[in-house]
Amino acid sequence: MRNILVLAAILLASATSLSAANDPIAERKEILKGIGEATKPVVGMMRGEVPFDRAKVNAALTSYANAVPKLPALFPDDSKTGGKTEALPRIWDEKAKFEALFTKLGEDVKIAQAEAITDVASLKAAFPKVLKDCKACHDDYREKK
Ligand code: HEC
Repeated sequence: MRNILVLAAILLASATSLSAANDPIAERKEILKGIGEATKPVVGMMRGEVPFDRAKVNAALTSYANAVPKLPALFPDDSKTGGKTEALPRIWDEKAKFEALFTKLGEDVKIAQAEAITDVASLKAAFPKVLKDCKACHDDYREKK
């Protein structure tokens, strides 16, 4: 029984990494698009366009926390071009710096998750630090449209 569970775990693990290997550009874009969607309502709250909703703030932070461990591996050497990627070639020249920005995002997400975000004011105090990490990476490593 135990062996079957171990085998299942290995199979599931390789199924995941296989699909990533098949199309890492599509996979990273899908994940990034997802966190972008989760971010929209939070930005709306900070702008006073939609009412404060703690559940949506949590959902955004959780989506970042889930994405951070997956993303670095989705920029393999053979994914510099194709699939309408907006990733800049500079990523592969500065891989350590690029990956460190994901680590920083993960750390700042943890800090924000520990903060008492209870209204727009506390949201505005805590959340921009996280969004700055998105911007810092996009400024250097994502093609500007
Ligand atoms: C360490 C670098 C890095 C960090 C941090 C980062 N991004 Fe990105 N992001 C990228 C790159 C590179 C692309 C372009 C990927 C591609 O087209 O292959 C991208 C693309 C995107 C896209 C477009 C996805 C699509 O539909 O193609 C969205 C939305 C996005 N990021 C949102 C965010 C948000 C929100 C955060 C912060 C919570 C964030 N990103 C943090 C590097 C980063």
